[in-house]
Amino acid sequence: MSGIQIIGMGHAVPSVCVTNTDLKKVMETSEEWIRTRTGICERRFCGEGESLVTLAVRASEEAIASSGVRKEKICLVITATVTPDYQVPSTSCLVQEKLGLPSGIPAFDLNAACSGFVYGLSLVQALLPENGFALLIGAEQLSRMLDFSDRSTAVLFGDGAAAAVLQKKAGVVFYSHLAADGNRNALWAASAPANRLPAWKNAAPQEEEETAGGEPEDTGKYKIHMDGRAVFRFAVRALSEELRELEKQSGIPAEEIDQIVCHQANQRILDYVRKERGLPEEKFYRNLDRYGNTSGASIPLALYDLWSAGNLEPGTRIFCIGFGAGLTWAGACLTF
Ligand code: ACO
Repeated sequence: MSGIQIIGMGHAVPSVCVTNTDLKKVMETSEEWIRTRTGICERRFCGEGESLVTLAVRASEEAIASSGVRKEKICLVITATVTPDYQVPSTSCLVQEKLGLPSGIPAFDLNAACSGFVYGLSLVQALLPENGFALLIGAEQLSRMLDFSDRSTAVLFGDGAAAAVLQKKAGVVFYSHLAADGNRNALWAASAPANRLPAWKNAAPQEEEETAGGEPEDTGKYKIHMDGRAVFRFAVRALSEELRELEKQSGIPAEEIDQIVCHQANQRILDYVRKERGLPEEKFYRNLDRYGNTSGASIPLALYDLWSAGNLEPGTRIFCIGFGAGLTWAGACLTF
């Protein structure tokens, strides 16, 4: 049996730090409400000269350097993101160009929202040849989507990126499980500017455009809709189920796993499942106090923190669990 293993990691945290108190200046909220309801204290937003691609490139450069792998050896690039700079070319193709990665290898983006990085691990396992090396990136610039007149969503999200170089090796244990339920897509939805109208409507001159009954209004802005309480209920259930699924597949009880790295959406979601299972606080890694919810970047950013702090000794076993819009959820068991 062959499995993928992380052999290098990198990250890129944008320059602008926005605290809960900063948000209080632009909307009716309080530092205390945000901290106690979510666990978030601050988040990072891209500033001048920063974009999704610049973050992805920085994270990838560090990951490749820390892996010691020559970039000519990378044979697959995948980026998990819901906020690419361009619909085409993909973020992965742009990273391939900017880092001079080999031509002719597969490179593409995937959208599975906050489960994206875990979906990506599973794809790397499926696509990478024995002994091959892949670059897997999780990157988001969610600040671009935020509507600061909606305090129930604007306080939750942040920007960031992290990347991993993976190698497929004989004898490495890797398990994964992917899931989605499109029937519940309306619980969390972000519509892109001008993407929701029929093509001919987009092409029509401005003065002739009108919003007919039942058609979505095109404001030229992203719109986030989230039913927070329903998403909360979904998230605790998905996290619990995925934990049980990984225990079943790997044969490792959660009590014996070294770390559980979950999507960093809300401290209360993590606490709920931790208490339900009677697991110790230190088993659930968290950094959402510093970064907020960074969707596809949140799990690799957490892995990067553990990696750079020297907490991923050879043999360390980790469950990664993502859940998010779609709805999607996914789990993976990694061995370091
Ligand atoms: N500041 C102050 N008050 C606020 C704010 C704010 N930023 N936002 C909402 N409120 C108010 C509401 O207006 C409401 O006031 P009311 O009682 O007078 O009507 C009150 O706070 C309670 O609102 P709720 O929405 O019930 O608050 P809740 O405790 O559910 O917390 C939250 C909201 C944090 C969004 C929570 O539901 C949650 O975390 N849900 C899960 C969201 C999530 O994890 N999403 C991401 C996962 S999917 C993904 O990452 C793509």
